[in-house]
Amino acid sequence: MRIDIISAVPELLDSPLNHSILGRAQKKGLVEIVVHNLHDYGKGTYKQIDDYCFGGDAGMVLMIEPIHRLIQDLQKERTYDQIIYVTPDGPVLDQPTANRLSCYENLIILCGHYKGIDHRIREHIITMEISIGNYVLSGGELPAAVICDSIVRLLPGVLSDETSALSDSFQDELLAPPIYTRPADYNGWKVPEVLLSGNPKLIKNWQEEQALERTRLLRPELLNSASE
Ligand code: ADE
Repeated sequence: MRIDIISAVPELLDSPLNHSILGRAQKKGLVEIVVHNLHDYGKGTYKQIDDYCFGGDAGMVLMIEPIHRLIQDLQKERTYDQIIYVTPDGPVLDQPTANRLSCYENLIILCGHYKGIDHRIREHIITMEISIGNYVLSGGELPAAVICDSIVRLLPGVLSDETSALSDSFQDELLAPPIYTRPADYNGWKVPEVLLSGNPKLIKNWQEEQALERTRLLRPELLNSASE
């Protein structure tokens, strides 16, 4: 899989993309993530990428031309399955969306900045919009990193235990059960007995009960949406 990210502040993506699971997945060649600096496509001597908003509103808007030219150059090299714009007014990212995105070959993620992007880009170039939640961040870089992480951890070979992404919270509309490690007794705080029983069937039943109970308690709306 290949993900091309377009950003006006590419430095913001350095750390989240290049460490831990995302970093290792790239080193292993399981995903290629390329960050493009929008300023490289800026107009004129000053490499301008933004301009004032028509209509007199405050704030700068990312211009069409640098974004369009960059995307056209990328499209000369390969066909993209989706050209995603990260924006707080898009549909909110969820696990089924991450699952679906992880099946694609080539994705572009466009990060907004300042007040946003010229709306014609959304009308004519963007094929999918994603928000990471109902709050506004200063730019699309952190949302882009969140989306990459949610996708890449699902790719075969990325997680050492291949089944562990499947047991994540939300994969079956339920929260994950509680997990523990050694010591089994820490100053009297004990790990549930059943997990030490060595009986896989009992353990599985307990985990399923806990997942259901925690979902009922903490996120009851997930159960309602699963039954719709
Ligand atoms: N850009 C700014 N805020 C955002 C959000 N919540 N989700 C996606 N992109 C954003």
